[in-house]
Amino acid sequence: MLANKKIILAVTGSIAAYKAAFIIRYLKKQGALVKVIMTKASSDFVTPITLATLSKEPVITDFVKEGNSGEWNNHVEMGLWADAIIVAPATANTIGKMVVGHADSFLLAVYLSARCPVFVAPAMDLDMYAHPSTQDNLNLLSERNNFIIAPEKGELASGLIGEGRLAEPEHIVAYLEQYFRAQLTLNGKSILITAGPTHEAIDPVRFIGNRSSGKMGVALAEECAKRGANVTLILGPSSLNVSSTYIEVIRVESAADMFAACQANFDQDAVIMAAAVADYTPETVSDKKIKKKENNWSIPLTKTQDILQWMGQNKTKQKLVGFALETNNELENAKGKLKRKNLDLIVLNSLQDKGAGFQTDTNKITIIDKDNKWSNFELKSKQEVAKDILNKLEELL
Ligand code: CTP
Repeated sequence: MLANKKIILAVTGSIAAYKAAFIIRYLKKQGALVKVIMTKASSDFVTPITLATLSKEPVITDFVKEGNSGEWNNHVEMGLWADAIIVAPATANTIGKMVVGHADSFLLAVYLSARCPVFVAPAMDLDMYAHPSTQDNLNLLSERNNFIIAPEKGELASGLIGEGRLAEPEHIVAYLEQYFRAQLTLNGKSILITAGPTHEAIDPVRFIGNRSSGKMGVALAEECAKRGANVTLILGPSSLNVSSTYIEVIRVESAADMFAACQANFDQDAVIMAAAVADYTPETVSDKKIKKKENNWSIPLTKTQDILQWMGQNKTKQKLVGFALETNNELENAKGKLKRKNLDLIVLNSLQDKGAGFQTDTNKITIIDKDNKWSNFELKSKQEVAKDILNKLEELL
């Protein structure tokens, strides 16, 4: 969530300043770019070299660079650079100055110059925190669209126990993550995605399968998660690994397993059926390995449940996206499937297009909507194709 986000951590003079080191570590771990501003008082509690080493950027304290060279630190440039400013720990003094609009430190000048969201994490003794002056100041900052990350209860530097200790660094970073997540286009949406092939068992060692790798469905799941959706991914037998806190992966083998998992997880805002589900399955599965005897061997097959068709018949609020892999008469076949299965969108792959379909890292698609309007897309990586599909789906959500 915080990868490549430009964050300013502004540290003021509280004993909790040492916790800035942990905040930087958590931000860096998530791939954020962090610049640290310190007030002069904060360097009594933690050294600039510690925070510079962790952030991998020089720490800025003053307007003028050291050595009397005439060089200065540009507070306007820095304020406009940031995607977010965190003031942590924020002392009663700095909070008061932010309210009044003082600019007697580099930190305050950056605060006044910035256009990005500002997060303020107070840290002070319990009576200072409870004082009406501090409370009024925090309310004013909040009314002016600053975000206050409330302090936590516990033992304070004074030895007193109460509210006033800086929120835990993990909680501060989680607050920021939540803020950025809430800005995402699919925030609050739940999406079910199926991916990969299915394996239809013949006996304990043999199965009927297909060449799907699962790459397209996994790319869709990852892009949905990046856009803030809660994703359930039902993945057929595939060698791909998926690791994201926002993707719940349910692994299945057969078309029947996939149908059961889809039914159990059907209560979603949208479903994307990217899996290549077997259309037929052996009528019976032998529990022992079948020995070779005759020259010819026929396996009686029976039709599987068409999962998407079932969804089309049972949908309430769900937007349904299907896939159609065709070799001839592509557009007409795909339009037929869209109507027959009561879909909102269908994504057509033609095996006539080089680089499209199974096993490849690329795909070339046409998206058709309910009004039979279609858009053609260039050959792209499956990650880029996932973006095109989700841009269309977002129009419907
Ligand atoms: N699908 C499904 N359940 C099945 C078979 C397919 O949900 N048992 C879904 C696929 O995930 C895909 C869409 O249906 O999103 C199209 O699959 P396809 O097999 O191409 O369509 P069919 O209607 O079965 O047509 P045909 O096999 O004749 O091309």
